[in-house]
Amino acid sequence: MVKKPSGWLWLLSLQVPLLVLVFSGALETSTGSATSSISAGRPLAGDSTLVSHGGVFELGFFSPGKTGRFYAGIWYTKVSRRTPVWVANRAAPLRSAAASELSISGDGNLVLLDEAKQPVWSTNATSISSNSTVAELLNTGNLILRDGLDSGNVFWQSFDHPTDSWLPGGKLGMNKLTGEVQRLVSWKNSEDPAPGIFSLEIDPSASSSQYFILWNSSHEFWSSGAWNGRIFSNVPEMVPGYIYDFAFVSGEEETYFTYNTTLSSDVISRFVVDISGQIKQLTWIAGAGEWMQFWSQPRPQCDVYRLCGPFGICSEKTMPHCACAMGFEKASPVDWELGDLTSGCARRTPLKCGGEDRFYTMPNVRLPAEPAAATARSAEECESACLGNCSCTGYSYDGGCSLWYDALFDLQQLPDSIRGGGTLHLRLAVLEFPSPASGKKATVEIAVGTSAGAVAVVALALAMVWRWRQRKFRGLRLVEGSLVVFRYSELKRVTGNFSDKLGGGGFGSVYRGTMGDSTEVAVKKLEGLRQGEKEFRSEVCTIGTIQHVNLVRLRGFCSHRSRRLLVYDYMPGGSLDRALFRGQAAPPVGWKTRYQIILGTARGLAYLHERCRDCIIHCDIKPENILLDGEFIPKVADFGMAKLVGREFSRVLTTVRGTRGYLAPEWMSGEAITAKADVYSFGMMLFEIISGRRNSEEKGEEKYAFFPAWAAKKLLSGELLGLVDPRMEEEADMEDLTRVLRVAFWCAQEDETLRPSMGHIIQILERAIDVEFPPIPRYLQLLWENPDAVEFSSTGVSSVQFSDVLAGGFSSSSQSTSHASSAANLRSFPSGDPSR
Ligand SMILES: *[C@@H]1O[C@H](CO)[C@@H](O)[C@H](O)[C@H]1NC(C)=O
Ligand SMILES: *[C@@H]1O[C@H](CO)[C@@H](O)[C@H](O)[C@H]1NC(C)=O
Ligand SMILES: *[C@@H]1O[C@H](CO)[C@@H](O)[C@H](O)[C@H]1NC(C)=O
Ligand SMILES: *[C@@H]1O[C@H](CO)[C@@H](O)[C@H](O)[C@H]1NC(C)=O
Ligand SMILES: *[C@@H]1O[C@H](CO)[C@@H](O)[C@H](O)[C@H]1NC(C)=O
Ligand SMILES: *[C@@H]1O[C@H](CO)[C@@H](O)[C@H](O)[C@H]1NC(C)=O
Repeated sequence: MVKKPSGWLWLLSLQVPLLVLVFSGALETSTGSATSSISAGRPLAGDSTLVSHGGVFELGFFSPGKTGRFYAGIWYTKVSRRTPVWVANRAAPLRSAAASELSISGDGNLVLLDEAKQPVWSTNATSISSNSTVAELLNTGNLILRDGLDSGNVFWQSFDHPTDSWLPGGKLGMNKLTGEVQRLVSWKNSEDPAPGIFSLEIDPSASSSQYFILWNSSHEFWSSGAWNGRIFSNVPEMVPGYIYDFAFVSGEEETYFTYNTTLSSDVISRFVVDISGQIKQLTWIAGAGEWMQFWSQPRPQCDVYRLCGPFGICSEKTMPHCACAMGFEKASPVDWELGDLTSGCARRTPLKCGGEDRFYTMPNVRLPAEPAAATARSAEECESACLGNCSCTGYSYDGGCSLWYDALFDLQQLPDSIRGGGTLHLRLAVLEFPSPASGKKATVEIAVGTSAGAVAVVALALAMVWRWRQRKFRGLRLVEGSLVVFRYSELKRVTGNFSDKLGGGGFGSVYRGTMGDSTEVAVKKLEGLRQGEKEFRSEVCTIGTIQHVNLVRLRGFCSHRSRRLLVYDYMPGGSLDRALFRGQAAPPVGWKTRYQIILGTARGLAYLHERCRDCIIHCDIKPENILLDGEFIPKVADFGMAKLVGREFSRVLTTVRGTRGYLAPEWMSGEAITAKADVYSFGMMLFEIISGRRNSEEKGEEKYAFFPAWAAKKLLSGELLGLVDPRMEEEADMEDLTRVLRVAFWCAQEDETLRPSMGHIIQILERAIDVEFPPIPRYLQLLWENPDAVEFSSTGVSSVQFSDVLAGGFSSSSQSTSHASSAANLRSFPSGDPSR
């Protein structure tokens, strides 16, 4: 799973996507007096609370949402969003807090009494007798009962009875004598702490030490893999000692895991079994006022068993992930709203059965599990086999016939980029299909009508361009499509024998030229092309039809023997890298202009990705390829190169100096490249536009300072101004800066499905929609989270060995030593804190 690239590429190859589903409940806050312990005759009632001696945790009554249900529970005093980590009466809510109390009963137990003084919950500890019991809340969040204030005899503790959260120091295992299992059970929904459908528990078989996530206490759908003394085999990314120290304890009486955090004591962090069926590690980010998710399993949300309920359909690409299949609707919209999807979807129109139903075709889906096989020699036979049984709800035929009866579970819509799904034919009532006479035909006609119209308009436009060009380039009659075909000698002449070089890259050098009518052009001499003449012409013609105000226009080309040249509009503003990084003397581009450059670039890219006929992935977005015209309007240059260069393209890209920092991790891992690779590069470029400097300062081999990692830290602490290019005279607008930074981090996600589309980004930049707080990608966290490994200080430069932290847990120990030698040395950001 983990490859062995060196340097910071190693970081990029850590495929640890993060899903943020920050689970929040707006909880009622109470203001009351705080006490330090509960003892006989001194109960806890109403809105008074019990606060731990260090002030970290608080025990009292709370009510989630506006439910009017009250619970006794423990939460963090310093977390502004009330977050219960333990609930006493999770399935037995109280109607009011005022008249209820937590008190020590005559038998020495802690009991919860409702307003009628009836016990609704008790600690039920058997081994007690005395009435000197004291309940105390420790600073770890553990509520303990002991017989007397200073007694060492703790006979009950909340850590033995966790609810949905596992706190540092807590135990998760089983008691071998009583058989009692400590399991984490999710809340029923975001406002109801009653036990939900998902749980995490230790494998009950004595021989193994691993965890399972279970659905309905019965079906196991994720396992941590066995504990090898350092890590769980299926969770290699949990580097020992990096954030957590796990320990496995197996004695005569009990076997359990416990953990400590190695973070500083003021970092608030917990594990939770979420209502989404995932286990998550969340850390409270005070600056943002949110719980941030740093880790979750199972990573793909759709891997959670029966997540969307019966007839629900899951998709990794959409938010929320669950929807109802065609012909179905949410069985209980209220439950869905609260995050409880177990009821799934209900059929809108009942089936008629008796051969009167039809099938709706769902291509490229993950088929439901456990089909029944039927003998059928064709799709038609398979269909009639399903129609013949009233409980059959769907079939799939791929040479063999699969039938499904009753409710369908775990349907997943696969994205177009993933093939290999099946085709499900879902049985629906005839009424669910639009009648063929009216609806369908009309749409087809309209579609034909509009596209014919569009063709006419395009043809007209092309004709006009053609005539205009004919006039402009008198003497150069050769025109292909809207492009001028130049003679080599002509280009040699206009460029003064290729004397004024504008720049060069992996695919050739660019020269400035002046045409006869004194229009300026940029002529690119392509190198290393293996394409034939015909192929080249056809690709260039395709590129030539792509025109947008934020794309550099291709005017023409030359194809002469082995020579291939492209002629573009000349951009007097030069490239963005010059504007940003070079010439301290030149007036630096101001904030408003930078924002316009960002927005314009996004529009150009969106056009390439979404608007033109064949989606074009640029593949090489970096400041060098963003050109500026006289008014600082950005124009994306060099698009279509991947088509021209073909197979050689990726080799050139990955080896060209200065390009690596913009390449999405999928370039390194060999996965298919989609438009989201451009989104990643765009994000990396955003950091540079904000800071006015390169993200990675390369000083010799393997030494980098990586600006985005530092920016992540600043984003979390809310100190954004320090990130902005200090040479800018104009103040950055805080709201826009926040917007751009958040977009940058969304783009920088390792998991491409989490990156937004360029269209989405434009809407955000145009301030039409808001952008949520982004999850900080794992590789960036690794760069700053461990204080021993990375120091981005404001004063000094500290070179740190990073390899131990990284290499340690990800694979075998032999690898960790081999990595120590090719260590990625990290320097602090060059001149420290650039804040003014
Ligand atoms: C506590 O214990 C003492 C002695 O065992 C007994 O006299 C007293 O009644 C008890 N008090 C309560 C409140 O149960
Ligand atoms: C305590 O014991 C009673 C009776 O045995 C039982 O009904 C109740 O559920 C138990 N409560 C807890 C919190 O275990
Ligand atoms: C969970 O299992 C119980 C029986 O073990 C069953 O009654 C219940 O319906 C199941 N829940 C769901 C959502 O299927
Ligand atoms: C956690 O820290 C405590 C105190 O430093 C120590 O006693 C305990 O062994 C540690 N546990 C683990 C799992 O590292
Ligand atoms: C329909 O199929 C189910 C499952 O195989 C079977 O139990 C049932 O008897 C069938 N009904 C008819 C009418 O064939
Ligand atoms: C152009 O450059 C080539 C080689 O650099 C040289 O041989 C040739 O004479 C030059 N032609 C002109 C017109 O300068």
